[in-house]
Amino acid sequence: MTSHQAWSVEAATVILQAMPAEERLMLPALQRIQAVFGWVPDESVPVIARELNVSRAEVVGVLTYYHDLRQSPPPPVAVQVCVSEACQAVGARPLAASLEAVYGVPLGETRDGVEFAKVYCLGNCALGPAAMVNGRLLGRCDVERVGAAIAQAQSVLA
Ligand code: FES
Repeated sequence: MTSHQAWSVEAATVILQAMPAEERLMLPALQRIQAVFGWVPDESVPVIARELNVSRAEVVGVLTYYHDLRQSPPPPVAVQVCVSEACQAVGARPLAASLEAVYGVPLGETRDGVEFAKVYCLGNCALGPAAMVNGRLLGRCDVERVGAAIAQAQSVLA
């Protein structure tokens, strides 16, 4: 897992104030908060609203619209499987089915500290089916390759 900074209002304020003026927009601000803290805590909403001079409702609207923005802390191991068209053409569905069978959890759920999520393109279309494990991009995936990356991610945490 990538290491994230512990949440604090003070740190969030500094991060937002350090963003260049042209990037001090809602989505980049939310993405920056998530990049630093690993998620976007509820407590960040008033901080972002204050620093961007927008309403809290506007922040919540954008935060809840984009599914890539996490509203809860990330799990120890996050697995993302691309189910977009280019990857489907080269085996994403069988890969997803195999992962669900092996780990006993459907995509979209978490078990034993491993979150399995479906995503729509990881920018690795030429090497599909693609997956990502804790930020590590994988190509030409099969269940063994993804499983090895999960095991490696878990061993780092142990
Ligand atoms: S379609 Fe799967 S990585 Fe782009």
